[in-house]
Amino acid sequence: MYQARIAGTGSYLPSKILANSDLEKLVDTNDQWIRERTGIVRRHLAAEGEVTSDLALQASLKALQDSGLSPLDIDMIIVATVSGDQTMPSTACVLQNKLGCRNVVAFDISAACSGFVYGLSVADQFIRTGMYRHVLVVGAEVLHRFVNYKDRETCILFGDGAGAFVVSRAEPQDTQVILSTHLQADGGLGDLFTLPAGGSKLPLTQSVLDQELQFVRMKGREIFKNAVRTLTECSRQALEHNHVSAEQVDWLVPHQANVRILEAVANHFHFPMEKVIVSLEETGNTSAASIPIAFDLARQQNKIQRGQTILLAAFGAGLTAGSALIRF
Ligand code: ACO
Repeated sequence: MYQARIAGTGSYLPSKILANSDLEKLVDTNDQWIRERTGIVRRHLAAEGEVTSDLALQASLKALQDSGLSPLDIDMIIVATVSGDQTMPSTACVLQNKLGCRNVVAFDISAACSGFVYGLSVADQFIRTGMYRHVLVVGAEVLHRFVNYKDRETCILFGDGAGAFVVSRAEPQDTQVILSTHLQADGGLGDLFTLPAGGSKLPLTQSVLDQELQFVRMKGREIFKNAVRTLTECSRQALEHNHVSAEQVDWLVPHQANVRILEAVANHFHFPMEKVIVSLEETGNTSAASIPIAFDLARQQNKIQRGQTILLAAFGAGLTAGSALIRF
């Protein structure tokens, strides 16, 4: 049985910025409310014509550079996204072509904001069995195209971006490995966050567009409560499984949804906020991209360092959730 390590990380945020003050011009909201209730100050938006695979490409190139590998070394590509370029083909196949990889396996994962941790877990399993040596795991979203800029509860939250990890087979003596991943889903809570139209249930028609069902719908307060519960549960599960205490964790990198969710988790989990990576003031909620972006930005700020023990924790529509404990 092999183990997997994180060989490289990269992230990409588009240059266009949507600040809280810009949103004041679109809906009945204000900078102070958004900062106080969410912690978000600005978010980056893809430019016209820029699509999810473009963002994924930029993040992937940086992760590959960081790992010292070339696209030709990659054996599998996983893209976690709920805002892919199109329903078919997968964004992972588009990315494979843009990167110039070999004809390796490539597929998307749909687990909303937990998608990246789901992808990391899948990569870990394929490496553990010895099937693949280098897996590119990407979280990429252009979610702003699925947000209704008349709905003040959702439009303030979301931003675009991409983050990528190159996950590689570790050498037998390596201690810097993925220690564990844990995933869960509760479809019974699926109606808390949905994108109602565009699938087989509700194909896009003029009537559907008139009802604005092509945009995300959210029960914010309910999600908040469940997010705190599942993030805490998954984090505990990871630590208990590995017999690691919260004190032994250098950084918690949670899904970046709302700083008050993160504070509540840190509180429940008896974890100091100073060890929680928070980047949502700059990015907003970038769904599947949020954890690898937060991770990579924290590396750029010299917070996350090689050799540290890092806990990733995610929750998202589904409701899905997951955690990964990594010795980086
Ligand atoms: N600006 C000003 N006022 C607002 C805004 C806004 N943008 N949005 C809501 N309000 C108002 C409400 O109408 C309400 O007014 P009322 O008291 O007169 O009825 C008041 O503010 C309080 O509303 P709440 O819903 O209780 O506000 P809350 O503090 O819960 O914050 C928020 C709302 C930010 C949506 C919060 O519930 C949240 O972050 N939930 C989780 C959302 C989330 O993570 N979604 C994605 C999850 S899945 C994924 O990540 C893909």
